[in-house]
Formats: sequence, C-alpha cells, structure tokens
Amino acid sequence: ISQAGIFLNSNLVSASLEALIQHLVPTVDYYPDRSYVFTFLLSSRLFLHPYELMTRVCHLCVEQQRSGDALLDKIRFREVAPKLVQLLTEWTETFPYDFRDERMMRCLKDMTHHVARGEEVSAQRPMQQMTQRLIKRLSALGQYEEAVSALNAVAMERPASLKSKQASGQRSDVMSACDDPFVLAQQLTHIELDRLSFIGPEEFIQTFARKDPLENHKGFFRKRKTSNLEAYVNWFNRLSYLVATEICMPVKKKHRARIIEFFIDVAQECFNIGNFNSLMAIITGMNMSPVARLRKTWSKVNTDKFEILEHQMDPSSNFSNYRTALRGATQRSETAHSSQEKIVIPFFSLLIKDIYFLNEGCASSLTNGHINFEKLWELAKQVSEFLVWRQVICPFDRDRRILQYLVTTPVFSEDELHLASYESEGPENNMEKDSRSSILSHGHISYIPLEDNRWNI
Ligand SMILES: *[C@@H]1O[C@H](CO)[C@@H](O)[C@H](O)[C@H]1NC(C)=O
Repeated sequence: ISQAGIFLNSNLVSASLEALIQHLVPTVDYYPDRSYVFTFLLSSRLFLHPYELMTRVCHLCVEQQRSGDALLDKIRFREVAPKLVQLLTEWTETFPYDFRDERMMRCLKDMTHHVARGEEVSAQRPMQQMTQRLIKRLSALGQYEEAVSALNAVAMERPASLKSKQASGQRSDVMSACDDPFVLAQQLTHIELDRLSFIGPEEFIQTFARKDPLENHKGFFRKRKTSNLEAYVNWFNRLSYLVATEICMPVKKKHRARIIEFFIDVAQECFNIGNFNSLMAIITGMNMSPVARLRKTWSKVNTDKFEILEHQMDPSSNFSNYRTALRGATQRSETAHSSQEKIVIPFFSLLIKDIYFLNEGCASSLTNGHINFEKLWELAKQVSEFLVWRQVICPFDRDRRILQYLVTTPVFSEDELHLASYESEGPENNMEKDSRSSILSHGHISYIPLEDNRWNI
C-alpha cells in the first residue's frame, strides 16, 4: 500500500480502492491490522458490494501463492490458509448479516472446500467452527425478526374498545401492569438492550451505499434485507405513543396526573440507569400535543423533576447537555465494577443523525480518485463505540408480564390521541374545536403540527 496510499503520522489518509483491497489480503507473512479490517469491512460497502470484496480478497489470497510449482503452491497455501480463515472469522463474527446473501455463503463454501483440499487440518476446524457459529447467529436473527413481527401484529390488533375513550375502560393501564417506576425502567432497559443487540454495525452504513443492481434481479442472488435499525426506531415511536396513550386515556384528572408523575419517575430512573433512549421516548410522549395541551391535568403535577430531565435532553446547542451526560455515562461504563454501571443506551435517532451527517458532510472519494480513508476511520470510530454499548448484558430480572404489556398493549393513533385528549379536557379555542370536528368528520387531521421534538427519522 505504501506506493498507492498516503499516510499521515502513520495513519492511512487516502488510497485507491485497489490498494485498500490488497491491504486486506493476508499473505504468508502479513496480516492486516484489526482496526483496519473493521474499518474497511464496515465502509467498503460504500464502494463495492461485500460479495465483490469477498470474491476478490479470496481470489487474491489464493493467486498470490501461485508460483507455477504445484508442490510449492500447496505448501504456501497451507501457510496462508489459517490467516485467511482468521480474516473470514473476523468478517463472520462482526458482520454476520453480510452472509444472508447466498453469493457470500457460496463463496464461503468454496473457500471451505479449498481449505479442505489443502489438507490443512489446523485451518479446517476453525473454518467449521466459524461456519457453525455463523449459522447459529443467522438463525437467531431469523427468530428475532419473526418475534418482532408477531409482536407488532398483536399490537396492531386494535380492539374496538380502544377506538373510543368511554369504552376503553376495559383496557388495563400501565400502573396495573407495574406500579414501581424502578421496575418499569428496568424492563424498558431489557427491551432496549435486546433490540440493540440485533443491530448489525453495517446497518448504519448500508443506507448510504449504492444500490446493488443485482438486487433487482428477481429470484437470483436475492438478499434478505436486514432492518433491525428500523425496528429499533419503531420501538422508540411506540414507547412515545404508549406514554401519550396512558396519559390521555383515564377519565379522571387525578388519575391522569398520577400517570404523568409515574412516568416522570420512570424517566428519572432511565436517566440514572443510562438508558437515554427510553428517557427520550418518554419525554417525547409527554410533549406530544394531545398530552401537552392538558393544562388542568398538568396543574396537578409537580413538574420540577421533569423540567430537569427536559433540560438534560434539550436539543439546543446540538444537544450539548445530553452529549455531556452521555460522555459521563460512557466514562462510568469504562470503569464499571458491575454490569449495571456498564449500561449506556444512547438516544438512538441522534446517533443515526450524527452518522448520517458525518457521511453527508465529507466526500468519500477525493478528486484524484482515491478513497478518503480519514472519513472511514471516523465512521468506524462512531460505529465501534456503539458496538461496545451493544455488548452489555442486562443485569435486571425479567418480568415477562410487564415486558409483554410494554411491547403488545394497543396504543392510540395520533387522531385517537387527540380525540381522547379533547374528551379529557374540552377544546379551549377555535383551532382546537376545528381540529376535533375535522378528526370526527374526516378521520384525520393534518394542520395541527406535532411538537418539534418528535425526533423521528
Ligand atoms: C453535533 O455534534 C456532533 C458530535 O460532536 C457532531 O458530530 C455534529 O457534526 C454536530 N452537528 C452540528 C450540526 O453541529
């Protein structure tokens, strides 16, 4: 790479795609640096499909050993095979979802055969173990996807009772499922960490990648798209709507105020745990206009704690308060003595936005055709921070009944929230009156803007 790449303080700054690919290929006496492997496997998909990369790396690795002498070639392949297996192991462990592509799997099988032909026993066993672990990971992913879509289906079954507030007395409320804010915050943390653990690092980058033209060929080479990132963002939105539903539903003002206070305590505990995503979802739910407009209800609530939490998550100055709190939690995590102290769950939509703007903000290719590798280091830095947070094992006891409630209990749609809110506290001005009659007559409203702080992406 020294001829084709530019280094600054021994860091790779830019290089041609060819040189970068070559830099990934192990030889008898060379193995790429781990951080390089991660960075390039993560971001190379901006330039070429993982399948193309794998084919070329395997091809180069095998071809480089060729000398024309069959016996010598065999000996040299035996020496390089364990290194190639190591590279493929790093690939399958860190980016297993790449192998949902049949072409990747076929390439992996070809390499398995090649290694087996080389009679290189020390490479064969690791190769088998790698394949077994990969298959296990992919089947766990399949099960997770099925579970999420089954849960979503249950949550979408909207009983007629929910459609109107008078009839919704049948639906149990959150405090009958769990009246301890500490326990509820812990169960929310379980859901967050479960869902985080399935997000592949490449999902952050994949969305920026060029579309694979082969992907459109029906039948052939079909790759099952992963969408764990979207599923996670959907969970955030669901939690916001759940909070708003729970607050808007009760008929009595006193009861609504109690639910608001309960969620403030839950939000506080999420903050203490380091679960910023649930915290933000709860604040977002409280700030949705159907909740925010309940003036008489809010007057019964002591909002001191809530104001402090809102201040922590204030979007101004590019979320500087939140970023400081996140750094604090990250430092606590790094020196943690217990798994509870390890927990850092970032406000996820903002993390996605940061990565998005990092990608938009600077070019991937330079004018000389070289790849801007400084940018790729930066992307890798952000994504690998996430990988550390993703690893944490949730230390709290699971309560299946509460978890079930949180992920499946039906929630109001936006229109239903407005109607429930007007039933709780009647329209106060003409705009609200118009809004209500518009929902009642058309079944939708379009002109009441939701609060700005719904950070959907
Ligand atoms: C906000 O802060 C992040 C992290 O420091 C940074 O990457 C991003 O560019 C900033 N965005 C703006 C609009 O300043």
